[in-house]
Formats: sequence, C-alpha cells, structure tokens
Amino acid sequence: MERTFAIIKPDAVERNVTGKVIEMIENAGFGIVGMKKIRLTRAQAEGFYYVHKERPFFNDLCTFMVRNPVIVMVLEKENAILAWRGLMGATNPANADAGTIRKELGVSIEENTVHGSDSPESAAYEIPYFFSALELV
Ligand code: CMP
Repeated sequence: MERTFAIIKPDAVERNVTGKVIEMIENAGFGIVGMKKIRLTRAQAEGFYYVHKERPFFNDLCTFMVRNPVIVMVLEKENAILAWRGLMGATNPANADAGTIRKELGVSIEENTVHGSDSPESAAYEIPYFFSALELV
C-alpha cells in the first residue's frame, strides 16, 4: 500500500462539489486515512508550493489557494500516487480525459479542483506538511 497527498481546492469548496470529489475518490477504491478542512495562510500556501516559486503563475496560484478553505487528505491504495494522478486527470481540465475529476469538475488550469503529489518525494514532503502521524488512521 502507498500513501499520497490530496487537496480539494477552493474552487470546489465554493461550488459545493467536495462531496462529488470524495465520492469519485471512494468509488476508485482509495482509503481516506486523513481528512480535514482548513484555511491556508499565505505563508502556508507559499511553503507548500515552494517548488513553483520561480514560475510565472506562483503568485496567482497562492492567491487562489488562500481565498477560501480547502480540504486536505491522505489517500491510501496500491500505487496511490500514480492512481490519484490518473483519477485527477491532466493539470489543464481542457486536456483531461473523460471521467477524470478535472475534466468533470475543473474550471481552468489554475482552478483545477484538486492537487496530488507527483512523486514519492513530493508525498514525503506534503503529507507531514499538513498531518501528524496521529491524524492518519
Ligand atoms: P497543482 O497540481 O496543484 O500544482 C501546481 C498548480 O499550479 C497546478 O495544479 C495548477 O493549479 C497551477 N497552475 C496555474 N497555472 C499553471 C501552469 N501554466 N502550468 C502548471 N500549473 C499551473
């Protein structure tokens, strides 16, 4: 079993579609081993996305991520990192395959509804960024 980190982003919280996202996660066979709704501070958003800090979209991305609460989760499954990336679909919803979360629910490349770790190294940074071991059940 592998664990990965997921965020349901502010665009989904604002449109009341977090339940749809969670239903798709459960239907795909993931276990949800940690989940909470939080509002990121600017510093937390910038620290989370530090790998993108030189990218032109960094400032707008952080502004978006703090404008409303998010739901952060740890998901468990065999090959969870790849499986969650597959269920999310391409970063840009316009390029995402049918049946993926970003195709069904995404708004734009920025407001793309969900985040997922892109590698074991990312998951190892992202999971403890938001969760203590005691919160993972
Ligand atoms: P996420 O998987 O959370 O990782 C970085 C985020 O940056 C990405 O999803 C998008 O929401 C956002 N983003 C905005 N513009 C771009 C872009 N041009 N290329 C990649 N990611 C972008």
